[in-house]
Amino acid sequence: MRLSCVLGLLSALVVSSLPFQEVAAQEAIERRVNELLGQMTLEEKVGQLNLVSHGPPLRWEDISEGKAGAVLNFNNAADVARAQALVQQSRLKIPLLFGLDVLHGFRTQFPLPLGEAAAFNPRLSFLASEWGAKEASHVGVNWTFAPMADLSRDSRWGRIVEGFGEDPYLGSVLTAARVNGFRKGGLAATTKHFAGYGAPQGGRDYDTTYIPRAEMHDTYLPPFRAAVEAGSASFMAAFNALNGEPSTANAWLLTDVLRKQWGFDGFVTSDWVGVGELILHGVAADGAEAARKAILAGVDMDMMGHLYIKHLPDEVRAGRVPESVVDESVRRILRTKIRLGLFDHPAIDPKRTEAAPSAEARQAAREVARETLVLLQNKNDLLPIKSDTRSIAVIGPLADAPHDMMGPHAARGHKEDSITMLQGIRQRAQSAGIAVSHAPACDLMCRSTEQLPAAIEAAKQADLIIAVFGEPQELSGEAASRAHLELNGKQTEVLEALAATGKPIALVLMGGRPQVLGAIAERVPSILMAWYPGTEGGNAVADVLFGDVNPSGKLPVTWPRATGQLPMYYNRLPSSRPTIPGNRFTLSYIDEAISPLYPFGWGLSYTQFAYSDAAIAQPRLDAGQMLDVSVSVTNKGSRAGQEVVQLYTRDPVASRSRPVRELKAFEKISLDPGQTKRVTLRVPVESLGFHLDDGSYVVEAGAIQVFVGGSSLADEVGQAEIINTINIPPDERRVSAATSIVQ
Ligand code: BGC
Repeated sequence: MRLSCVLGLLSALVVSSLPFQEVAAQEAIERRVNELLGQMTLEEKVGQLNLVSHGPPLRWEDISEGKAGAVLNFNNAADVARAQALVQQSRLKIPLLFGLDVLHGFRTQFPLPLGEAAAFNPRLSFLASEWGAKEASHVGVNWTFAPMADLSRDSRWGRIVEGFGEDPYLGSVLTAARVNGFRKGGLAATTKHFAGYGAPQGGRDYDTTYIPRAEMHDTYLPPFRAAVEAGSASFMAAFNALNGEPSTANAWLLTDVLRKQWGFDGFVTSDWVGVGELILHGVAADGAEAARKAILAGVDMDMMGHLYIKHLPDEVRAGRVPESVVDESVRRILRTKIRLGLFDHPAIDPKRTEAAPSAEARQAAREVARETLVLLQNKNDLLPIKSDTRSIAVIGPLADAPHDMMGPHAARGHKEDSITMLQGIRQRAQSAGIAVSHAPACDLMCRSTEQLPAAIEAAKQADLIIAVFGEPQELSGEAASRAHLELNGKQTEVLEALAATGKPIALVLMGGRPQVLGAIAERVPSILMAWYPGTEGGNAVADVLFGDVNPSGKLPVTWPRATGQLPMYYNRLPSSRPTIPGNRFTLSYIDEAISPLYPFGWGLSYTQFAYSDAAIAQPRLDAGQMLDVSVSVTNKGSRAGQEVVQLYTRDPVASRSRPVRELKAFEKISLDPGQTKRVTLRVPVESLGFHLDDGSYVVEAGAIQVFVGGSSLADEVGQAEIINTINIPPDERRVSAATSIVQ
């Protein structure tokens, strides 16, 4: 809530009347943009719209000839300096944007964004982004292709790992925190992929998406809007077609919503060859038509398509694209470059090198990673490791897998920097005089179990088995859709065999998404979800296993029992046939339970938290007021711990069916043993409604149910009454959306 308030304030600054100096500064920027534009030839203008990658087919001369406005995949100072020197040879000396996918760190790897989301802690999201940005900008990168604001309800989609999971409110808060963190560290953000990319049919990356417009506004767009209000410099159009219209040629998304309704004045880049792919989408016959459709829809920059540079001058001369459209795109790019101060930055020293992770960076990475770990189950309080444990067998191919610790999209990560699980556990165990053995049991993909007998032997010799299994990083990320979410290879067989030794066993699970655990959830008492925890992951996991840190992560996605349950999410619409156990003609599967294995917001602690005395301050509410819900949370156990207090609402009777629960606020608190805190969560009335297809927002008069607790299974604590219906038009919604997104 504290950070939410800050974010709300930031949003308010964007939309409310700006202070005089700021208006004057903006006017000065616009004057500078127009002066520059006035000096540019058509070819030079189109050059600004061209984004090319390092490596073939980059022609370095394009830079000195003014044919590139931005470059990507530059990741060292020597190359940046070379490009900057070429800019100085160009006629107008317009500086370049140097773009790179800096998602979760540059050299020091932080947890992958989905894991980071499990911390439910915007301060840590800010910190992780800031560190990635600091390290990247040190060598001259000034623009990141992050954050990914694609909400996803389908963990078959490999890129779910790059986002924040399934909830629009959590997503909005964390997306804003990431944009702000990148900026603080020196990188301009690109919020991607606009939009709907996280809901491809069948969970297949690059497949098509159908999402009704009202649902876009309610669910998929809020994190993007939060990014605009946090000041994201740019956006990236998605690869997918949305309701039959490819995002790269989608004027509704790029112009009507992003610019007209939300007032975004930065620029939009295509994704990699996204403009050219309009031909494959079947909406353009050739490159010229693809370029024309993309720029007319609102894509300002062509990433690696080379179609703008090739065709736009002729398209303009032939009158098929008004020059004013090109001018506007150039303006957006120049404005961004001026705002970022690129014209005033001195050239980088080519001898600058990236540093190995500093002690400070490692400490930050460890701090973040610790909070991302989710204790999914812990039967008989098997964890933390007991003080009388004398020996541990660490089993599994991922236990000592430095490359996999980094996860996908690791920018300049070096696997040699990683502290693996085995290293982290060994080091901590040593200080407690505990012996540690290690056996992989199978290869990384767990195709062969030749090494299983040795692992069983090691397990039998030990007091405790720590099994480290899950999804190797090759199975996660872009182009890594999975049709089978079961533990890959022979992992189930191996884990069954380990459990059959009768030794106590805890599973540390790695991966970029929930995996189907099947019988393993029954056979293994304790399961800790570690995602891809980054450079310091092994230490962070050891901190939690040994109880030096109490786990506090909560699931940002619903965890299914079976792949066939997907897509699956907590904020679903009610069914006319709610589940009645044993009644076939109600919402159910005939071959699987209807419930998830672990719900959204779920995560255990080594202590227990009790909620009591919830109170709604003002049960009758009108426009401009806040739904204030207070609750006492007590730490009933004997260890200090952190809890994410979550507030959900439901509109039980509305003009259209509304979700059974929606997260509206959360606060992460620390409690000493026996301590009680009173937490007040404040939700603006203007965020208790829903959108219509045109983007307008309505909060209907009537009852709102309120639920508070430590997961999406939270108990109902009362109802509030909205006295009058509130209608907010789409452009005014920009103001109310800011307060509704960030409370
Ligand atoms: C991805 C983008 C990424 C770009 C540049 C594309 O394949 O979809 O998310 O930013 O490549 O690396």
